[in-house]
Amino acid sequence: MVKLKEKTIFTCQNCGYQSLKWLGRCPDCNTWNSLVEELNSAPSLTKAGPDNFRITHQKETPQPISAIESIQEKRSSTGIHEFDRVIGGGVVPGSVILIGGDPGIGKSTLLLQASDSMAEQKRVLYVTGEESIGQTKMRADRLGSISKNLFIVSETNLDSIIDCIKKVNPDFLIVDSIQVIYKDALSSSPGSVSQVRLCGQELTFLAKKSGMAIFLIGHVTKEGNIAGPRVLEHMVDTVLYFEGEKHLSLRILRAVKNRFGSTNEIGIFEMTGMGLKEVSNPSGIFIEERPKGISGFAVVPTLEGTRPLLVEIQALVSPSNFTIPKREARGIDYNRISLIAAVLERRVGLEFARFDVYVNVAGGIKIVEPAIDLGVALTIASNHRDLPLDSDCVVMGEVGLGGEIRAISQIENRLKESARLGFKRALIPKANWGHLVGGHSTHESIGKMSGVSSPLELIPVSFLKEALDVVF
Ligand code: TYD
Ligand code: MG
Repeated sequence: MVKLKEKTIFTCQNCGYQSLKWLGRCPDCNTWNSLVEELNSAPSLTKAGPDNFRITHQKETPQPISAIESIQEKRSSTGIHEFDRVIGGGVVPGSVILIGGDPGIGKSTLLLQASDSMAEQKRVLYVTGEESIGQTKMRADRLGSISKNLFIVSETNLDSIIDCIKKVNPDFLIVDSIQVIYKDALSSSPGSVSQVRLCGQELTFLAKKSGMAIFLIGHVTKEGNIAGPRVLEHMVDTVLYFEGEKHLSLRILRAVKNRFGSTNEIGIFEMTGMGLKEVSNPSGIFIEERPKGISGFAVVPTLEGTRPLLVEIQALVSPSNFTIPKREARGIDYNRISLIAAVLERRVGLEFARFDVYVNVAGGIKIVEPAIDLGVALTIASNHRDLPLDSDCVVMGEVGLGGEIRAISQIENRLKESARLGFKRALIPKANWGHLVGGHSTHESIGKMSGVSSPLELIPVSFLKEALDVVF
C-alpha cells in the first residue's frame, strides 16, 4: 500500500486556494503562476487553534434576546470623528478592523493620529513593521502625537509581538502592516497567503479572547484587493479602504464590510503638511474648481451613505482615430459610459460611432450609484453639441435602456443640499417629482416643502430626449 504523506502544499498567493500538486493556473481565481509550495503546517494549527490561545469549549445555553447586553454602548471613539462615523460610531472592544490602501496613501498617518487620540483615555500599542521606531517618532513629532500611553515597537515576529502585548496590555493594537508579520512555524515568506492567514487568525483569536481591539493595516494588490485578500476579509469584523488620487490631497475612508455598522458611510480627509485633517462639511469641495459656460460639465448630487455630496462630471467627445472608438471613464464604471452612449445614440439620435468618449468625475471620487446617469448623459451630449449646461442647475436621475428617466432614492436630501450650496434649478425624474409636490402640475419650490430657505426650481423630465430639449 502506498503511504500518503504530504509535507508540502501549493497555495495560491492570490486567493489562498490549496492543491497537493503544482498547477500553472489557480482553478479558483484563474490567476496564472500563483501557486507557491509551502510547508503544510497551517491546517493542523487551524484545527487546534493557535497554541497560545486555545479556547476551551463551553456549552452555551440560548438566551432571550432581550436579556443580552448590547455591545453598542461600549464603543470607544478613535478621536477622529470621520473615522468613527465610517466604523459605525466608534471602536467595539475585541473587534478587528482591516484598513487597506495603496502605498503612500496615508494609512500609517491616519492610524498614528488615531492612536494618539485613543491613547488619551486608553493604552495603545503601535507595532510598526515597516519603519523603525525612530522614523515613527519623527512622524509622530510632526503630527504632534506624544501621548504617554502610546507605546511603539518595531517588530515583525508574531510571537515577539504577542510578548509585547503581554507587557503593555493595550486596549488597542495597531499592526502596520499585516504583510510584514510572520510566524516561525511557517517556512513561507511574510506577506504570503499562509503567513497572512495564520497571523491574522492568531491576532483575531487574541482580540476576541482579550477584548483588545486590533487595527490591521494591509497593502492592496494592483487589482485593488488587500493582498492575501479573501482570507483576511472573511476573518475580520470590519474592512475599510483608504483611497484617493495620490496627486490630490483628498482622501476617502470607506467601509466595504462592517459587522458593527453600515457600509455606506464614508469619511473624508485632506492630507496636509501636518497630517490628515477631517473635512466635516465636504459637499461643496468637489465642485469648487468647476468652470462655468463651457460645454461638457454638469453638477450631480450623489449620496455616500446618508451624506449628500455634490460632484462635477466632465465629458469630452472627440473625433476618433481608432477603428473601434474609445470609451474611457474615471470615477465611474466604464460599462456605464458605453451603455449611456448607446442610449444617446439610439434614443436621442446623437452619433458616436466615429467619436471617442471620455468621462471623468472630478476630485478623484468614485461613484457607483445610477442616480448620476442623467448627469453623465447630459455632459456627453453637451460636449457633443458644444452647448454648455446651465451652471445653476443640478441634474439627477437614472437612465433606462429605453431612454426613460427613472426615479432615484432620497431625492429630498439631494435637493436640500443643492439648495444649500446655492443652486437655483434641479432637473429631476418625473417619477420623483410626483411624490415631492403631491400631484401639483406646476414647477414647485422645494423651499416650500422642506423648510429650506433658498428656493429651488424643480424641472421634472421623463425621457432623455425631453431632458435634452429642456437644457439646450
Ligand atoms: P503614509 O501614512 O506613510 O502612507 P501609507 O502608510 O499608506 O503607505 O503616508 C505617506 C504620505 O503622506 C507621504 O507621501 C507623505 C504624506 N504626508 C503628508 O503629506 N503630511 C504628513 O504630515 C505626513 C505624515 C505624511
Ligand atoms: Mg505605512
